[in-house]
Amino acid sequence: MQSLQTALQNQQTDPELSQLLELLADICCEISNDVRRGALAGVLGVASSENVQGETQKKLDIIANDLIKRRLAELPSVKGIASEEEDDVVSLHSDGRFLVSFDPLDGSSNIDINSLVGTIFSVLPAPEGTLTQASFLQSGRNQLAAGYALYGPSTLMALSTGQGTQMYTLDPNSQTFLQLEAQVQIPATTQEFAINMSNQRFWQAPMQGYINDLLEGANGVREKNFNMRWIAAMVGDVHRVLSRGGIFTYPADHKNPDKPFKLRLMYEANPMAMLVEQANGLASTGYENILDIEPSGIHQRVAVILGSRDEVSHCLSYHA
Ligand code: F6P
Ligand code: MN
Repeated sequence: MQSLQTALQNQQTDPELSQLLELLADICCEISNDVRRGALAGVLGVASSENVQGETQKKLDIIANDLIKRRLAELPSVKGIASEEEDDVVSLHSDGRFLVSFDPLDGSSNIDINSLVGTIFSVLPAPEGTLTQASFLQSGRNQLAAGYALYGPSTLMALSTGQGTQMYTLDPNSQTFLQLEAQVQIPATTQEFAINMSNQRFWQAPMQGYINDLLEGANGVREKNFNMRWIAAMVGDVHRVLSRGGIFTYPADHKNPDKPFKLRLMYEANPMAMLVEQANGLASTGYENILDIEPSGIHQRVAVILGSRDEVSHCLSYHA
């Protein structure tokens, strides 16, 4: 198995970008060690603060955020960062070429039940001039790299620099990532869907119609039965989609009129959309390709429908 470092060299990745991606992998390895030690590392439980979206932060959210911030500051090529756990952007090196957006610990409600969590990251080119929130407001098509680490029974990392999506596994002995798959391919068709069904009555008509038809299974218009899975951590659900196909969606809903969407564009939807598209899948809001969205804010939320190409297209036909 080739190492992440060798794989990036073989892909002729820009050396400074490779250095940044290797650092991100190293940071994820450190977070993985904290996740594994759990209670022993004192990382469980709720911290006393709230993040910018008014959600309670778990201790590990803050630990992971501070770790990523501190370690990225070591690299002169990083101009600034945006994080789910930071209200504003953080300036690092004024001459840096890269901007990094990240969700330090996705699925944090899973920590205390010892279930799947992960780290999601996205790398954008840094525009000239002073760093502001506007520096980050670039469409997902501009991403130079995107990836996630999944802290599961083993720690895995999915990564794309625009040459397909690669999957790596963390070797706990060497503390390095080794390549498992050089070209992840999401099957075009599927019989598996992921959605939080408890929100059904709050969805808009197109999603109601689509899911109703799935639930009718072999007796309905789809003429086949579907299975449902929901991990409550996007990183876990997207990983399943990359592994064996499926459709994952967090659609618009009117449960809370001030918050029609759940997932964040810059550090959840965009990086996952790049990984999925690079693995031959599709990622849309229902009306627009996620990677084509012109962002209006660093913590902007969007509807997400992603996964197996034919199934996502089918779902989009209800939105047409
Ligand atoms: O980061 C938001 C998030 O935790 C995702 O990782 C996950 O897909 C979703 O929210 C879970 O939502 P719910 O709480 O509705 O199951
Ligand atoms: Mn998240």
